[in-house]
Amino acid sequence: MQIIDGKKISAEIKEEIAREVEDIKNKGGKIPHLAAVLVGHDGGSATYVAHKVKACEQVGFKSTLIRFEDNISENELLTKVNELNNDDDIDGFIVQLPLPKHINEEKIIEAVNPKKDVDGFHPINVGRMSVGMPSFVSATPAGILELLKRYNIETSGKHCVVLGRSNIVGRPVSILLSQKAEYGNATVTVCHSRTPNLKELCLQADIIIAALGVPEFVTGNMVKEGAVVIDVGTTRVKSDKTKSGWKLKGDVKFDEVAEKCSYITPVPGGVGPMTIVSLLKNTLLAAKGEIYG
Ligand code: GUN
Repeated sequence: MQIIDGKKISAEIKEEIAREVEDIKNKGGKIPHLAAVLVGHDGGSATYVAHKVKACEQVGFKSTLIRFEDNISENELLTKVNELNNDDDIDGFIVQLPLPKHINEEKIIEAVNPKKDVDGFHPINVGRMSVGMPSFVSATPAGILELLKRYNIETSGKHCVVLGRSNIVGRPVSILLSQKAEYGNATVTVCHSRTPNLKELCLQADIIIAALGVPEFVTGNMVKEGAVVIDVGTTRVKSDKTKSGWKLKGDVKFDEVAEKCSYITPVPGGVGPMTIVSLLKNTLLAAKGEIYG
């Protein structure tokens, strides 16, 4: 069994991006600039956004963090989105999800200019991705594909079982893996809370992508010998063993599953760091105008 080291791969990719930024600087070009909007004080969201901003610094991007209290109105947030759409210095921006219940997330996502939608959440980007056109691909699915690629894990002709159908991970990764493309050509089964024979389907999988958000859902008896297991779960649970008082739990019961599979991603240090570098890559593409020209 081999552990897929997302931390190491993401550090390599950050170096590649940093070299490109250096090159842009040397040629007198514009430094890529990412803005992140964070609403409220949810500890998980604040940590993720802080990691994104720090990653920008590490590769030499400009970054802007915009914070609002969670009583901000939908209209005020829409006004900020419009401001960012019209700010020529900002190449791309994200609005961290989830948003407070009084704000319609779909309305906010649709208000983002697709050319600056480096999260790849706008229906135009999702639609373009679905039909294989150039698009911003959301960061977690893109990060998963990059890990498979860098570890030379074949997807063509394989049976992938995706657990979860969220707009952020399950649905886009299932579309990408089934596409006629280099890291596609898989037969994909999408499982969710209404799937009755989930364990049997998992046992048939060559690759399992666990993105349910249920800690330790995938157990050893659900995994075929030699399967590849990608754990997207990042549930924060209280812990008295860490400095922050929190620890991340994946969707996979690591010790049991690791014994059976050929490759596995740990939590933390697997998919998480790849999500952040995929966002950086999208920001670079936005700055270079490579998706929409
Ligand atoms: N919430 C959980 N994952 C993400 C993400 O990739 N982008 C944003 N904007 N919010 C999230």
